[in-house]
Amino acid sequence: MENLDILCKKIISKIDEADDLNTLNAVRIDYLGKKGEITKLMKELTNLTHEEKKSYGKNINTLKVKVLDSIENKKVYLEKKIILDNINKERLDITLPERSYSSGHIHPISHTIEEVIEIFKPMGFSVAEGPDIEDDFHNFTALNFPPDHPAREMHDTFFLNESNNGEKLLMRTHTSPVQIRVMKDNEPPIRVLAPGRTYRCDYDITHTPMFHQVEGLVIDKKVNMGHLKGCLTTFVESFFGINNLPVRFRPSYFPFTEPSAEVDIGCQRKDGEFKIGDGGEWLEILGCGMVHHNVLKACGLDPNEYQGFAFGVGVERIAMLKYGITDLRMFFDCDLRWIKHYGFSFLDKFDGNN
Ligand code: DAH
Repeated sequence: MENLDILCKKIISKIDEADDLNTLNAVRIDYLGKKGEITKLMKELTNLTHEEKKSYGKNINTLKVKVLDSIENKKVYLEKKIILDNINKERLDITLPERSYSSGHIHPISHTIEEVIEIFKPMGFSVAEGPDIEDDFHNFTALNFPPDHPAREMHDTFFLNESNNGEKLLMRTHTSPVQIRVMKDNEPPIRVLAPGRTYRCDYDITHTPMFHQVEGLVIDKKVNMGHLKGCLTTFVESFFGINNLPVRFRPSYFPFTEPSAEVDIGCQRKDGEFKIGDGGEWLEILGCGMVHHNVLKACGLDPNEYQGFAFGVGVERIAMLKYGITDLRMFFDCDLRWIKHYGFSFLDKFDGNN
């Protein structure tokens, strides 16, 4: 009897210690399996007298029932624990703050080009493109550049080693060659904008070897300088968002236009501050003019039938003025902090007045 009590305590403490189902099952086999200790004791009952069997048998049975119950209880406990552990492990903590993500920004150059396009769209302009690698004909000759023009020199233009059927290839120095391509490929009336990269052999605080321009070209019958003035005045007023912005068309020279002009806008520089709109000072903003008859002829158009005007705007320049960007070189430095500061979200809307 005393032995059974000791055995019972030993088994119960083993059950208590079992902290997983395998260990618990091993305890069950050790005591209640075919060769288990309790099973053995029950088999030995056959050797006892009837009286002994009665009392000892009852005690062993009580022990057996107690052990079975304890094992069953522990089993239920361990199974629940497994489920709870899994629930805890798999729990989704919705109180955690969201993982931060950073979205990209639209580069001020792309944004400014889009703005320019949006302003000209309602005036009937569509967008044309030309290659960055040009030939001498489109970049210079057809645009009426004289053979000795300085732009044809190595120090201004990046010439490439390969030639195009004996003609020198170069990185286009302006977007004006797109005018030639458009006039050769399309019948007037023509109203196009040609934004794109341009290249010049120049690098200092106000020049980078690659920069951007937007070219404009209008060809039709009876186009005159009044159309040019109206169109470009509308553009600068919309772009800078200032009604009645002072605009001046100052006579200038470009080989491909006659007459030629540069457009200045009114501004004021005072106490280190720069303001567009007021003041008695002028700031050059773009080049323009009536398309030269030699250019029309080079494209197969009759200057007696068709006239037109053209203009070219430096994208970096107008972006710097509008968005207060002071260092030209930062446009191309790929500094993410700069892009985050000066760049635009794709959700930023513009209506020509911001
Ligand atoms: N192509 C000129 C340049 O790069 C800019 C320009 C001036 C374009 C007058 C034009 C124009 O179309 O009419 O400096």
